Amino acid sequence: MDSLLIRGGQQLSGQVPIAGAKNAALPAMVASLLTDEPLVLARLPAVNDIRSLKLLLAGLGVEISEHNSTTELRAARLRSTHADYDLVRKMRASVLVLGPLLARAGEAEVSLPGGCAIGARPVNLHVEAMRALGAEVVLENGYLRARARGHRLRGGEIVLPLPSVGATENALMAAVLAEGESRIVNPAREPEVGDLVRCLVAMGARIEGFGGSAIHVQGVERLGGARHRVISDRIEAGTYAIAAAITGGCLKLAGAVADDLEVFLATLRGAGVDVVAYGDGDDDGDDEGGGVVVDARDCRLRACDVATAAHPGFPTDLQAQFMALMTRAEGESRITERIFENRFMHVQELERLGARIRVRGASALVSGPAELRGAQVTATDLRASVSLVLAGLAAEGETVVNRIYHLDRGYAGLEDKLRACGASLERLPGRADAAA
Ligand code: UD1
Repeated sequence: MDSLLIRGGQQLSGQVPIAGAKNAALPAMVASLLTDEPLVLARLPAVNDIRSLKLLLAGLGVEISEHNSTTELRAARLRSTHADYDLVRKMRASVLVLGPLLARAGEAEVSLPGGCAIGARPVNLHVEAMRALGAEVVLENGYLRARARGHRLRGGEIVLPLPSVGATENALMAAVLAEGESRIVNPAREPEVGDLVRCLVAMGARIEGFGGSAIHVQGVERLGGARHRVISDRIEAGTYAIAAAITGGCLKLAGAVADDLEVFLATLRGAGVDVVAYGDGDDDGDDEGGGVVVDARDCRLRACDVATAAHPGFPTDLQAQFMALMTRAEGESRITERIFENRFMHVQELERLGARIRVRGASALVSGPAELRGAQVTATDLRASVSLVLAGLAAEGETVVNRIYHLDRGYAGLEDKLRACGASLERLPGRADAAA
């Protein structure tokens, strides 16, 4: 497996183009299962999770082709309703095919995603949502086997005890073709869910109330093709914002949408970093565009406390990166993880670089500023991996981040983007025998 060698200590400066959001692109691609017409998606990020999902969708009968930086997905006829373990275990988002397969074909057989490095991550809410729409779902041999009574789902009330992003997306993609009206109570409000709603509406779905306490869906007989441009990746933008802050540099994040990152950017300002949004505040690709400038050249980083929460709260997907930043801040910072248990796998590795962190239940207490020094570290999940890269950029000497296949799952062109802003890093190819 490849590793990344980072020579720390360079102040980053320049412009970083922010890619389309992986977590919005994945559900939009899955939505292609809902129609026999072409769905044309623009701005899919070049990351391995997107490639894995293409493989899974192709196996279900979706024809996929690329034209001038757009991707066309067409499920003229479904070939299969079986999502195999080998593909689902690689990427949890694969479980999103459950709702659309049930809605279009009346049946689905989807592997359970299996263990994950950031906690148990069950799918009970996805299953309950399908049941509320009239599906029978059983668990057999590691597979969820689901069938719609009478071959078509019917509208129902789905009450989510917590606003799960994936369960809301699965419920939406099932309800759009169900007979009658559905209500999703306590839905997720993440911008990626909003992007899926826009994509489904462009395909002819009738959905109202996104952003509020309940989403209403009026089921329709069929959906058609559409063109849709995926939103900008707020987590990628937040990650580069921290790259600027942790190296005392200045980066222009082209295409970042400040409105999608309000709490995070306010927290960064609280830590003493200068953050300014520019342009028209959207990412619609016009000449001026929008974006955010993050300037930490004259700043003295201050510790601040954060607790992750569902949107619009502080995103759990930026918790590890923010912890890396707080190792360099003056004072003690309390970082509380409220979404996922066991999402502090990066703590031990940050300590190898010289960070001083104590974990107390769901909180990590970070004492700073610590002098970070290069070391060998091993990444355990996508966001933990990138937090080690960020710490390595600020550390003195050489840091080697091992098992970086996680980074390739979710960050498009990470090395090139960092290098273009002055970082010194290179990929060390892994030994073939270590790749198993
Ligand atoms: C999505 C994102 C992920 C992000 C997370 C939270 C994608 C592909 N992934 O993941 O990057 O970290 O949102 O913003 O978009 N839960 C249950 N039962 C369920 C489903 C979830 O108990 O059936 C719990 C989870 O264990 C967790 C919480 O709900 O504690 C939130 O998870 P959820 O919002 O569903 O995350 P994902 O959709 O998996």
